Amino acid sequence: MANRVLKVGICGVGRIGGNHAQEIGSFPDMFQLVACADTDPQRLVKEVPRELEGVAKYHSLDEMLQHPGLDMVTIGIRHPDHVPAAIKIMEAGKIAVVEKPVATSVAEMQRMLEVAKAHPHCLFLRHNRRFEPAFVKAKQLMDTGLIGDVQYIKLYRSVGYCRRNDWMTMPEFYGGLLTNWGPHLIDQALRFLDSPVVDIWADVRHVISIGAGDDLFKIILKAKNNRVADIEVAGCNAMPGREMEIIGSKGTIVYENGKMTARYLDPTIALKNDLKPHPGQPPKKYGNFDETLNFFTSEVEVPQLSMSVLWKHLYDDVVNGIPTPIRLEEGLEVVKVTEEAFRRSGFKPARV
Ligand SMILES: NC(=O)c1ccc[n+]([C@@H]2O[C@H](COP(=O)([O-])OP(=O)(O)OC[C@H]3O[C@@H](n4cnc5c(N)ncnc54)[C@H](O)[C@@H]3O)[C@@H](O)[C@H]2O)c1
Repeated sequence: MANRVLKVGICGVGRIGGNHAQEIGSFPDMFQLVACADTDPQRLVKEVPRELEGVAKYHSLDEMLQHPGLDMVTIGIRHPDHVPAAIKIMEAGKIAVVEKPVATSVAEMQRMLEVAKAHPHCLFLRHNRRFEPAFVKAKQLMDTGLIGDVQYIKLYRSVGYCRRNDWMTMPEFYGGLLTNWGPHLIDQALRFLDSPVVDIWADVRHVISIGAGDDLFKIILKAKNNRVADIEVAGCNAMPGREMEIIGSKGTIVYENGKMTARYLDPTIALKNDLKPHPGQPPKKYGNFDETLNFFTSEVEVPQLSMSVLWKHLYDDVVNGIPTPIRLEEGLEVVKVTEEAFRRSGFKPARV
């Protein structure tokens, strides 16, 4: 029997709308692009991505929702318009795929989740960096126990030293780096922590971007299992650092400049467990005078996975009943951390 093919419309044919079209277009057995909508006529005519050239064009989401046989709409419009669009799509009986930030507040997220309850399998969150190859590999490695008990997880991202000046830097549109890159790294951090967050510290600030939204933030999350995640995103760092560092009791995993390295104690040699500290005069050197540790250092191959696998998971959820790994409750947790980080830092994201 032939596969069911979901008919898809793209709402917002801007920078990310083109990516949606390209990614979805790469699964022709699962999806068919049939429509797109944009309030900017220019985007629908002159700048339309190749994959959408032959599809029906609409000037609004409302019009597109009338498209015969439409099953699903992806939302690639401005942050504050995500939830209203998702609710409209679900209430029209279609599947809504929401870009990050999936909501501008916990209250708004909860409104969307209420509607989703009445429309099962109709709401999906595009937390695509859940499938970022380096994240997937580091998480797998960490879960094998190679570096022992995980203590600190540091996630860092630089978007370049940029006096950025589009709407995404404007608080009027819930813009800034915390709402832009925050959801990606908060989602990854929550997965690494693997335990409920019990404490949050945050600093959120504006340094150089043209819009008044934040362009530098740090969030520290402490989890019930005692792990700590340190998330930093910078739009004003002229010398960016490593993207990932996971410190465990028996080693460390680092990801930097596209290279993952693990340095860990030889698992075949048990640590001496009868050692005692020496209270007396030490030899004239620092460290451990009774033990030598054997380390392995290895470069870890990061498989070239595609983040587009998100669409396959979505399809499997809708058509084959296999739940997508990106759960709605996890999306809610990301929104909660974002809101709490703004609150703790005192930096106010404006809402339209
Ligand atoms: N997951 C990711 O990796 C990722 C990457 C980039 C952007 N995004 C998200 O995608 C969203 C869009 O970002 P962008 O960079 O593509 O913005 P953009 O400004 O380039 O594109 C938005 C498009 O939506 C259209 N539009 C606005 N309101 C509309 C409406 N009500 N109905 C129909 N069309 C409308 C605009 O005319 C524009 O063409 C943002 O929320 C952003 O956070 C996610």
